[in-house]
Amino acid sequence: MTREEILAELKRLGPWFHRIDLGGGIFTKTESVMGEPIDHPLGPWQTIQKLLPPDLSGKTLLDVGCNAGFYAFEAKRRGAKRVLGVDGQRQHVRQGLFVRNVLGLDVEFRRLNVYELNARTVGQFDITLALGLLYHLKHPILALENLYQVTKELLIIETAIMPPERTPESFAHPLGEKEMLLHSLAFVENPTHAKEQVFNWFLPGVESLKALLRSTGFSEVEVVEAKNERAIVVCRKTKPAIDDVDAPKHFVEELKLEQGPHECAPSSELIFQLRVENIGMALWSANGDDVTGKGAVFLGSHLLKDTEDEVDWDYGRARLPSDLGPGSATQLEIKLPAPQTPGKYIVEFDMVAEHVTWFEDHGSGTLRHELIVKT
Ligand SMILES: C[S@@+](CC[C@H](N)C(=O)[O-])C[C@H]1O[C@@H](n2cnc3c(N)ncnc32)[C@H](O)[C@@H]1O
Repeated sequence: MTREEILAELKRLGPWFHRIDLGGGIFTKTESVMGEPIDHPLGPWQTIQKLLPPDLSGKTLLDVGCNAGFYAFEAKRRGAKRVLGVDGQRQHVRQGLFVRNVLGLDVEFRRLNVYELNARTVGQFDITLALGLLYHLKHPILALENLYQVTKELLIIETAIMPPERTPESFAHPLGEKEMLLHSLAFVENPTHAKEQVFNWFLPGVESLKALLRSTGFSEVEVVEAKNERAIVVCRKTKPAIDDVDAPKHFVEELKLEQGPHECAPSSELIFQLRVENIGMALWSANGDDVTGKGAVFLGSHLLKDTEDEVDWDYGRARLPSDLGPGSATQLEIKLPAPQTPGKYIVEFDMVAEHVTWFEDHGSGTLRHELIVKT
């Protein structure tokens, strides 16, 4: 591309929020668009780069709300094996793709909303960046759960926060039977026409930001900088222990019946084939604790009458062939004895973690299958 062509394209794709050096004295922008420093994001980058391993070789990195890709390109320059930048706004994906072509750096870009991210849509990355994103979200907890799901090791958050001098202190308060800690989180009232990805919605106080990240499941949450009404937080993830008190809420299944009878004779053998997918955030252990077997995950089933009356709660189980990580699926066969008494029944399939929980008890869906036992 000639210099003139690059300049013309920069104009066509503007306005630019990221100032990226394209070489030959050309930068993506020459003026501030919304009051940010003209060299944005050079300021936050000074801190963020120290939080990343200096050598990213072998690492995969996801940049959510990547804008024109400044951080994604810097990660690639540091040797990251794979870098994916996603942004909810098409104009930024166009900008990222253009810069990629000019710089010749192998960074992938996709238009994806943070709410669409999960282990199935993008897989998992060693490192995730969510910089300048959180306060743009109407559903911050949903987004944080998605960020947790797609992160293997490290999530770095940079966000606007509630003005510290106006943030009420956290305090303990009885709710139900327990004293609970309440943290401040401000809702920003917007005009009704406000566009989600451009306006601001929630500003967390620092304590509420930490609590949100802890309750999403991150085992280590460290605020490394809080100044000028912005904070940078490093969140690390370790594999959930089998008896991790937080693990049950991360058990979420998707079950699909691939084969199985709708009618049968009394006491005959029923064979069902199911596709079982881990769409939650916890690893499903096939064997559980080495000594007690606690936490081993099985495909379980309940037998109910069509009136919902229980016939057999622990009707039959099938073992996982091996551990199943988030985003992975397997086929399972389960053999069950048909009821002796003719009638209309429901076989309800659900996953169960031995001595921990049925997944349904933590909000997961189940699979219900109607069965007629004929005379
Ligand atoms: C303030 S800019 C921050 C850009 C960049 N990460 C940085 O720190 O300089 C916010 C970016 O997040 C994107 N964004 C906002 N809401 C989003 C959402 N729901 N899903 C994905 N991206 C979103 C915007 O399009 C925008 O590019």
